[in-house]
This record gives sequence, structure tokens and C-alpha cells, in this order.
Amino acid sequence: MTEPGWAAAHDSEAFACIAVVPPGLEEPAAQELSSLGASAVQPLRRAVRCRTDAATFYRLHLRARLPFRLLRELARFPCRGRDDLYWGVREAADWSHWLPSEASFRVDASGSLPGLNHSHYSALQVKNALVDWQREVWGRRSSVNLEDPDLALHLHLSPGRPGQLPQASLSVDGSGESLHRRGYRARLGLAPLKENLAAGLIALTGWDGSVPLLDPLCGSGTLLIEAACQALGRAPGLGRGFALQRWPDFDADLWRQEAEAAAALAQDRPLAPILGNEADPAVLEQARANAEAAGVAPWINWRGGDCRALEPPAGPGLVVCNPPYGERIGAGDSLKQLYADLGQMLKQRCGGWTLWLLSGNPELTGALRMKASRKVPVSNGGIDCRWLQYEIR
Ligand SMILES: C[S@@+](CC[C@H](N)C(=O)[O-])C[C@H]1O[C@@H](n2cnc3c(N)ncnc32)[C@H](O)[C@@H]1O
Repeated sequence: MTEPGWAAAHDSEAFACIAVVPPGLEEPAAQELSSLGASAVQPLRRAVRCRTDAATFYRLHLRARLPFRLLRELARFPCRGRDDLYWGVREAADWSHWLPSEASFRVDASGSLPGLNHSHYSALQVKNALVDWQREVWGRRSSVNLEDPDLALHLHLSPGRPGQLPQASLSVDGSGESLHRRGYRARLGLAPLKENLAAGLIALTGWDGSVPLLDPLCGSGTLLIEAACQALGRAPGLGRGFALQRWPDFDADLWRQEAEAAAALAQDRPLAPILGNEADPAVLEQARANAEAAGVAPWINWRGGDCRALEPPAGPGLVVCNPPYGERIGAGDSLKQLYADLGQMLKQRCGGWTLWLLSGNPELTGALRMKASRKVPVSNGGIDCRWLQYEIR
């Protein structure tokens, strides 16, 4: 449901927006975008399509927690092969507005079609169409800058619906650096979850700050920090910059209004206890530093030590965790024992609580000796995982 107070975008001012989201989180991401004012929201695979006006697009950048990036579609056109792509791109937008010859650019491509099955080649075809157009019109062309372009374009090729011609969608990337980088985390740690995935997992639990929250194997604390940020209304995009701020139509006043509205959502309210436990002292230090940098340190308590020795706060509450599952850290029988002991500890000390556990290995979760009431398939850095819900008895 859209929050009250946002006028529906006039259709003439609205454009299609594509949010690239973690696989498995398309539904909660669609709910999030629609709660922030996007319309015609449609979950796809690894993406959500919607319509926004400029204010909503800015708001999504400042406040959406689940997307990796947000694209603004310039054009969508039938594409049967390389010639359609070349000519379609030239006519896709007013390039004198979007790409003056002084501006640098880069092109990324995804998807494929017969005759266009190498993303690198498809991206090159887009680049050629644009620089040829520039040379014909101005006698000079933009340079390509892969690291820090003024404009990042994204081409997506798809087969189209049954009965439809294959489609090319050409977009500008509003985000720049991936949106999971909120700016609070040093890029270290032992198999940390990406911040947007952690936020999506927390959204699926429905935690709202009213019951205790415990992560017995908290690592660098991403689940707890994202949960606290969500409950305290901390907008994830306030501490960083975005590619859209370099667009020719960037509206600084409108951006300021949206940023002020996003900042005003922060409330320093009391939350139920949040507790993170971690065995590795260096990783625990990182969790503390991350919470400090995210501005939520006063709401989270940290404990060092083995999870088997943990005394949970008075409950019932919610346990979330992402134990090692052998792909990247830990291995073998000692991990099975860890899961068995974790299951036992939770049954002994957290009766009546709910557990959500991210598992990449069904054999290990079997050792918990508990029966999941819900299993949500998600991908964590390319590893097929399940976000499993258990009622602890
Ligand atoms: C997959 S990582 C968690 C990552 C975390 N979700 C994050 O975003 O940073 C698992 C963590 O469990 C910790 N760990 C392993 N065995 C433990 C135990 N017996 N007690 C407490 N922590 C343990 C590891 O040190 C590691 O930091």
C-alpha cells in the first residue's frame, strides 16, 4: 500500500523503473517499492518493474533497502538482431540531452537473443550506435569510462512474451555503486551477508522492534544492524552518493526535499533488546564498529563467545542466524556438531521463540533436529540457500 500524501505521478511525467533485486526477494522488494510510492509494480526474475516519477525514483534511492540498483528505462523496442539493436539505440532517446560529447559513458548488457548471445558484443553494438550518432551530428564523440562514467547505460535483451518479437530494453543506471553498499561497513569480514539481502531476510520475518532479537552467530552483525536501521527508520541512502546526481535533468531541489523527508523518518525510539553473539573476537569488533558507523550502536548489545554458552534475554522473541555452511568457512563433522548443539541450545533456552536460519546445506540443517514451517529460496552470493522458519518448542 502506498503511504498517504504522495500524489500519483502524472503519467506524462512517469517512466518505467527496473529494480535489480536478490533472487528470491522479488515479492518483498515489490511490496517495498509499492509502499514507497511506485505504481504498476510487477515482480520479475531477479528484478521488479514499476512506474515512478522523478520524486519517487529519488525516494527509492534514498529509502529502498532491498534493491541492488535502480534503472530508469529510456526505451523498449523490438529487436530481431544486431541491426535492430543498432538503429533502435540511436532512436531510443534524445541523446543530445542524455549524452553530450563531453560526457563519458559505459554500457553493460544482460540477457541474450539469437545473433546477440554475447553480452560483451551486445554492449559494444550499443556503444557503436551512440558514438556513430555523435560523430554524425557533432563530429566528435564521448569517451568510454568503465570506472567512473558520467552516464552508465544498461541493455537488457529478452525473448518477449509469447507472440511478441524479442525485446531490447535500454536504461540508465541511477545508482552507480551497488545500493547494498550503505557506507557503514568496512569491506572485510568472514562471509558477510550483503546489506540488501540481510534487509530482505529481516523483512520476511516481520520483526518490528517489539520483541527481542538475537543472532547467536552474528559475524559482522549485518542482520542485526539492518533490523535496527529498519525499525528506527534510518534511510539507507543518506550517507552516500548516486549516479543520478550527475544526470542532465538532476533536480537538486527535489532531491533535497526527498532527502529531508527521508532524514525526518529517523526516530530514536526504544526497541526490545537486540543481542549479537560471535565467537571470533576480531569479527565481533567489526560488528561493533559497523553498528557505530550505522548509528545504531546504542540499540545493540554484543557478546563474545561460543553460541552454546549463550543466555538469551527474556522472551519470547526472534532468533535470526546465518551459521557457517561449509561453502566458504568451516567444514565437515564439526559443523554438523555445531548445528546439533545450536538446535539443542535453542530448544532448551528459547522455547516459544521463532527461529529464522539461512541455510546453504540441507544436511547441516537436518542436524538441528527441527522441522521448518516455511522455506524461502534465496541466493546468497550465487549460493542456492533457504531462509528457513522454525517455531522453537
Ligand atoms: C556466515 S558467518 C555470519 C555472517 C554474518 N551474517 C554477517 O553478515 O557478517 C558465521 C559466523 O559464525 C561464527 N561462528 C562459528 N562458530 C561459532 C560458534 N560456535 N559460536 C559463535 N559464533 C560462531 C563465525 O566466526 C562467523 O563469523
